[in-house]
Amino acid sequence: MRVLGVNAVFHDPAAALVVDGEIVAAAEEERFTRRKHGKSPVAFATWELPEQSMRWCLRRAGLEPADLDAVAYSYDPALAPEFDGDVVADDWEGLRTLYAQRAPLFLRTALPGLDPAKVTFVPHHVAHAASAHLAAPYRNSAVLVLDGRGEVASHLAGRANDGQLDVLATQHLPHSLGLLYEEVTAHLGFRRSSDEYKVMAMASYGSPRWLAEFRELVHATDDGGFATEPIDWSRYAPARRGDMDWTSTHADLASTVQIRLEEVLLDLAGWLHRQTGERALTMAGGVALNCVANARLAAESPFDHIWVQPAAGDAGTALGGALHVAAAHGDRIAPMKTAALGRSWSDAELAAWLVTADIPHERPDDIADAVAGILADNGIVAWFQGGSEYGPRALGHRSLLANATRADNLKRLNDVKGREQFRPVAPMVLTDRAADIFEGQLPSPYMLFTHRVKPAWMDRIPAVVHVDGTARIQTVDAGDEPLVASMLRHLERRTGVPVVVNTSLNTAGRPMVDDPRDALECFGSAPVDALALGPYLIRRRGLTLPESAA
Ligand SMILES: [Fe+2]
Repeated sequence: MRVLGVNAVFHDPAAALVVDGEIVAAAEEERFTRRKHGKSPVAFATWELPEQSMRWCLRRAGLEPADLDAVAYSYDPALAPEFDGDVVADDWEGLRTLYAQRAPLFLRTALPGLDPAKVTFVPHHVAHAASAHLAAPYRNSAVLVLDGRGEVASHLAGRANDGQLDVLATQHLPHSLGLLYEEVTAHLGFRRSSDEYKVMAMASYGSPRWLAEFRELVHATDDGGFATEPIDWSRYAPARRGDMDWTSTHADLASTVQIRLEEVLLDLAGWLHRQTGERALTMAGGVALNCVANARLAAESPFDHIWVQPAAGDAGTALGGALHVAAAHGDRIAPMKTAALGRSWSDAELAAWLVTADIPHERPDDIADAVAGILADNGIVAWFQGGSEYGPRALGHRSLLANATRADNLKRLNDVKGREQFRPVAPMVLTDRAADIFEGQLPSPYMLFTHRVKPAWMDRIPAVVHVDGTARIQTVDAGDEPLVASMLRHLERRTGVPVVVNTSLNTAGRPMVDDPRDALECFGSAPVDALALGPYLIRRRGLTLPESAA
């Protein structure tokens, strides 16, 4: 069965294609349009579809819209709040519903030849849940979805048994852990539905001094759900504008909310474990991108395994919706093997881009070794290889790489990207060396958990050790990621350290680089020493890095 999944309603519009149970392609619209998060998260933008990513998914598989058996739309307007025809009441909620109801017609316009009757509405949290339990490497799991909101809920807890989801609990709005975190994000001067990870980073600089009060305001209930009471944020810290300095009071508020979130997640996971007895917990929804909370669940919850789908935010509901419809039709779903589900180019196509740009380049015998040499000499490398990543993390396909042994590379990378200095950067490490250097659940291929750095390594990889002694690692397996693993092996041979700094290939406020033009533009405008574009190496003019001794 050929199913196109579409996420369009709130934010992070995206498309995914599943053919006979195999994930063929998945991509976020922002990578095509270069507009961060794809669109504004407002009701009157609900009609906007991920047109370019939908068309690319079809092109990738050589399909026409008429070839599709189904289109899964990850929101069900039949579940949305009732509205009396006044589309502007209640923050335009009725308009959102109306636009979602009309989505089949909008889809026919965007994909000429599509039969609108083939569009299926998948409840938002069912799509999130499917993106976790159907993509995970477990046939059975407990499933936890937490986000800002879906139609009327912000949470789903369930049990998946061989592809069938049994919903055990849902938490209705206005109670929402995702919206709670969005509110504190906005209060602390960051962009809601976008910059929540900055609050998580800031939290480690503070102490949770209002935890007792927040335990009253935010708490699990005995039915598997939770309550979030209205919070007057100004009682704790003054509202911060984005251009103002932050203070320890702001960090303390971030810490309080972060720790309380972790505690409530542990309560929800405990309830779900008691209900299901499952060993594995699969998770999705924007809250599941909180890698500090995920690490705490891995360490302290009763589950043996925690698996988080790498596109856990709303973009992932495109994949989840498609997987759900395919599974309901009877297709056997193949687990997700990689997040590199986006666009890629052949060597010849990349060469043509370089010829068009008239830019001097070389083709080393081994690009992995050449890059390792530049990194060993403390150069910063833009690394563009294979298919682009689905989800917010750069996982070795559209990455900026640097030497982890030099403490000043954190500041250097934050300067290159033009972003705040409290933002950490993360390490990639060879899977077979990870346990020597990091603690916690391994492997960790999607950068969704923080891990304590072992004491003997703290001073050896200072660029990637966060102030709290942890690092958000990505383990790299030679079978799954042969080129990245080869680069790390060469780096270890040259430096003795099988770890590299990896951050996303973009500059502040821009989506991750996706196509070769984006890579060349980023390289051209940021002080990066080299660009590894497939097998080709472009060095910054005037760069006089010495050849490292092999
Ligand atoms: Fe969501």
